[in-house]
Formats: sequence, C-alpha cells, structure tokens
Amino acid sequence: MRYCIAANWKMHLYPAEAEALFLALRDAWQEAPLSNLPGIIFPPVLYLQRLSDLRQGSPLQIGAQNGYPGEFGAYTGEVSMAQLAAVGTQWVLVGHSERRQYFGEGEAFLREKILSAQQRGLSVLYCVGETQAQRSAGQTFSVLTSQLEGVLRDTPIAWSRFALAYEPVWAIGTGLNATATQAQEAHAFLRAQLRTYGAPADTIPILYGGSLKPENAAELFAQPEVDGGLVGGASLKTESFLAIAKALLQKLPVS
Ligand code: PGA
Repeated sequence: MRYCIAANWKMHLYPAEAEALFLALRDAWQEAPLSNLPGIIFPPVLYLQRLSDLRQGSPLQIGAQNGYPGEFGAYTGEVSMAQLAAVGTQWVLVGHSERRQYFGEGEAFLREKILSAQQRGLSVLYCVGETQAQRSAGQTFSVLTSQLEGVLRDTPIAWSRFALAYEPVWAIGTGLNATATQAQEAHAFLRAQLRTYGAPADTIPILYGGSLKPENAAELFAQPEVDGGLVGGASLKTESFLAIAKALLQKLPVS
C-alpha cells in the first residue's frame, strides 16, 4: 500500500454524529473507484468498538489516536495496544504533535508505543514535523532526522505495518498549509531517510497533514513524494473529506 487517505477526528463529535459520518463514508467507499483507495478513520477511542462493528465488510479501516504500550497494568485512564487490537482496531497514531506538545511525549516513549503496537498486530502511522520557529531557524531537516532517529534506530520495525505523516506543526489547524514545494521537499527527505534504516521506502506511505482541504488537496497530491493525507478539521464533514479523498484518486494506477 503506497497511497492512502486518513481522517483524524481528534476530540470531536458526539456518538450519533460519529456514527452518521462513518456510515456516510462507508457508503461512499462501497463503490469503485473510492473502494480501491485505502482509507483509515481515527475516531475518539470511545467509538472504536462501534465503528469496528459497522465497518465489517467495508474496505475502510479504523485506528486509534493514541494507545499505551503493553496489555494490562495500573495506568489509570489509559487504553493498551492489546485492548485496542481486541476491539478490531487496525491502526494507531503515534507522535502526533498535539501529543508531543500537550502531553510531553518524547521519542523514547514513542518508540515503545510503536514496538508494542506492532507486537499486537497494529499498523502504525508515525507523525513528524517541525514548528514555525524551527523552520525559520533552518532546522526543518535536523528536526525530522531526530524525530525518525529517536524511534527507528536499532528498532525491529515491521515495515509492512508502518506509515509516516509529515505534519508541519505551523500548518495544523491554522488554515496555513505547506506549499506543494515545501511538502515535496520534506517528503523526499523523509523517504531518503527511511532508506538509511533499511526500509522498503518506495512502498511506505508518506502522508501530508496540516490544513488539508478540498481547495489545496489536488496540488499537494500531485507531488510525486506525497502519497496521501492525514486530514483533521476537513475530515469532520462528509463532503470535504470525500472531496479530498477523490483528489487522491489521480494517483491510483488505472485498473
Ligand atoms: P488539520 O489537522 O487538518 O485540522 O490541520 C491535521 C492533523 O492534526 O492531523
């Protein structure tokens, strides 16, 4: 799988709204060409069980926005990777900038999460990206390098269950997306870095995230190194998420 579209619902939607949105997407994904496009929905953890039941027979996959390493333990408020897998979750987000920034998650812990998730059979979407201050200081590539190095060095990754998201922090939820050139440059850099860890980089999705919308999706997806998107705000409405997903269809091989 190289191309893929993902929805990060973050801490939004009441249960009935989440279900209605998922059902609308499930319907849309029932027919070609969308049914040929891998799609992953990351709802609030509370809704995973329900969406897992609803997705039976659909090509859409579901993922958790977070997970704790291991199976059981005295970690009040946490949900383990094993528990997520047990209710039918297929993916987990690791390293989202909101987790790094508001919950103080650093690479050593993120590495543990990745290993644990993969041991439980989950696929991992690992997020990286620089802040505005880091970009202005010319540190973009060194930040991306250390965000990869901290989790990949000497780590036995199952590459077939690993994807990356490049999400410049300054573009998340700001309405200010990276330009196509900035995205292409960062994605090419990340793919080259993946090769240095022995990854089959040409088969690994590198998604762009940060103020993706129907208006900018086609141009970003036209970049050869941009394999899809991780969509926040615009994934909360059926029409806008579908418009973004359809912009990615241009990349699918004609069957
Ligand atoms: P956004 O969020 O599309 O609302 O900028 C993207 C993300 O944080 O994954």
